[in-house]
Amino acid sequence: MVFLNGKFIEKNQAHISVMDRGFLFGDGVYEVIPVYNNKIFRLNAHLLRLQTGLDSVKIKNPYNLKEWGDILSKLLGFYNNQEQSIYLQISRGVSNKRKHSFSNLTPTVYIESNPLLTKTKQAFKAGFSAITQPDIRWHRCDIKSISLLANVMYSQQAKEKNVEEVILYRDNQVTEGATSNVFIIKDGTLFTHPTGVHILSGITRDLVLESARACHIPIKKVSFSMDELNAADELWISSSTREIMPITQVDGKLINRGNIGNAWSCVYSYYQSLKNA
Ligand code: PDD
Repeated sequence: MVFLNGKFIEKNQAHISVMDRGFLFGDGVYEVIPVYNNKIFRLNAHLLRLQTGLDSVKIKNPYNLKEWGDILSKLLGFYNNQEQSIYLQISRGVSNKRKHSFSNLTPTVYIESNPLLTKTKQAFKAGFSAITQPDIRWHRCDIKSISLLANVMYSQQAKEKNVEEVILYRDNQVTEGATSNVFIIKDGTLFTHPTGVHILSGITRDLVLESARACHIPIKKVSFSMDELNAADELWISSSTREIMPITQVDGKLINRGNIGNAWSCVYSYYQSLKNA
């Protein structure tokens, strides 16, 4: 079952108009929200970011917080899996003419949920590989826009090169991953790019910072260079579907001699406790 414009229907019955601005212009925003033990994780934070994104692109939020909560709970009731990944998108809606500028339209709301396949700590222990690429994206990466062509291109490169993620840099400073936020540990301190227009303010990023505080790891929300990335003691990526992943190889070079680190172990364990709280 999926949710489309107020109705719960079978996915193969869900259709939208070719004049939908999401289809024609990528004119919309989205959220990906994890569900653990049948509980939607950090729903309010996701809905707040959704609201900020909608405000940025001048789409009216069709539902209030309670209505969103009710819709999502009802949708989850159709699934058996305890661990889910909700995908929710709002496009500006359907117009009768293809024109870049817009007038007031009724937003199209589409929600689906899929099983969330989280890896065990054991599976994480081998670490993951990444490659780096210049960040060619626009200067509003803070908006969780459904226009994801650059991210799609990067993710396809990752798939073709058989690596987990593409880590991006702008002016030699690491920004984020194609679909994740990026962190390094250097001499016991955690570094991550500050929020602003060059990264998406990840909900998991906030949880990583909360977990690092619990682990007494000092935090610097300042960007770091490509050289600093290569010389890092630990390197992690985070997202709602991946949680916190240790990266032990970048562009074929080993990080921490290919071992996952102690800081990651502590932060990962604390994050697990937040999930189950
Ligand atoms: N992507 N940065 C980018 C560019 C992302 O696409 C994502 C997540 C993140 C992490 O955000 P969060 O912790 O809130 O999931 C950072 C989602 C999972 C996606 O597009 O599927």
